[in-house]
Amino acid sequence: MSITPHGGELVNRILTDEVRTAALNRAKKMSKIKVDTYTAFDIDCIAKGMFSPLKGFMNEEQTRNALDRMCLRPGIPWTIPILLSVSQADADRLTEGSEVAIEDDRGDLVAILHLAEKFSVDKTELSEKVYRTTDPAHPGVAYTLSLGPVFLAGDLDVLKAREIEFQEYNLTPVETRAVFEERGWKRIVAFQTRNPIHRAHEYLTKCALEVCDGLLIHPLMGTTKSDDIPGEVRMECYQALLEKYYPKDHALLSIMPVNMRYAGPREAIMHSIVRKNYGCTHFIVGRDHAGVGSYYGTYDAHYIFDEFDPKELGITPLFFDHSFFCKACGNMASIKTCPHGKEDHVFLSGTKVREMLGRGEEPPVEFTRHEVAQILIRWATGAAK
Ligand code: ADX
Repeated sequence: MSITPHGGELVNRILTDEVRTAALNRAKKMSKIKVDTYTAFDIDCIAKGMFSPLKGFMNEEQTRNALDRMCLRPGIPWTIPILLSVSQADADRLTEGSEVAIEDDRGDLVAILHLAEKFSVDKTELSEKVYRTTDPAHPGVAYTLSLGPVFLAGDLDVLKAREIEFQEYNLTPVETRAVFEERGWKRIVAFQTRNPIHRAHEYLTKCALEVCDGLLIHPLMGTTKSDDIPGEVRMECYQALLEKYYPKDHALLSIMPVNMRYAGPREAIMHSIVRKNYGCTHFIVGRDHAGVGSYYGTYDAHYIFDEFDPKELGITPLFFDHSFFCKACGNMASIKTCPHGKEDHVFLSGTKVREMLGRGEEPPVEFTRHEVAQILIRWATGAAK
């Protein structure tokens, strides 16, 4: 039997058949709002149950609970508000209790919002609590500050599931759960990433797989900041690695269409909850998980788990210390398992790696596999595939 979704039930808000046709016809006559790509991804997450138990955008009480108590309601952990913001003009023309049609970034009518509540939350407070900073240079803060002044809450009926590139890898929670069942995996560990898989990442995934039945390599493919490596380049890296270095009967590559928030500790909790909804029992949290710049301490994303009742969270974090290749050990290790000093450790900063790739130089094989390096060099030097 698979793991219970967060809040007890896997949400599915996607309408089908005649119900959908009737709703679509109704939606054409409703007041309409337009949303950006970020919100369109959030709608998709609500639709397919990644954000279970949410059935729509959060109301004021849920938002206050998430900000102040890190829960949706007592017993249901939740760390990041999922909000639908609009301009004051849009808020003024929409009435609570009405249905509102939502048009996405591609111009499609994607959902109907059952508008239950309009409310406001101070954006500085939102930033401070979610991102632990109000610095507008933080990508999550910048996005928060750019939102409209009013939030709309209410359940969604979704008219169209969002399709993205590599759609064949975009398994829904229902689908990953079915694969796990079919493969007979009971202990399933998920690996979140927004980067190519380097040797340190590979090390974490394989250590975790040693104590689990299955590994879900689960790269995030919602919106990311503009200087992150593009999804299609990362995907090529994942496929190359999976082909050559992972056991096919114990590893599954599937993408996760969730926005990157760069909220460090709070996002580590959110990432765990989402993976629980996908049917995973364990979740890898390494160093500076979901961090950006130097806003978070290296292990803040580990410590935050102490603030939750493991039963309420319902998915087990697997914590990893900073990992690297150690020349003296002759293998991958971490500060926990390696007795040697920094001089023996192969460490390269992200900036240094980018510079090397841009010059067409391969980083050492102790840092990244040859196959991955070649793909990244082609991208960084602008060479055709
Ligand atoms: S993240 O934003 O998705 O966290 P990234 O893709 O770099 O960024 O990391 C994926 C996972 O690997 C996260 O859990 C992160 O903490 C972990 N991680 C990345 N690099 C290392 C490393 N050298 N040592 C230990 N954990 C790491």
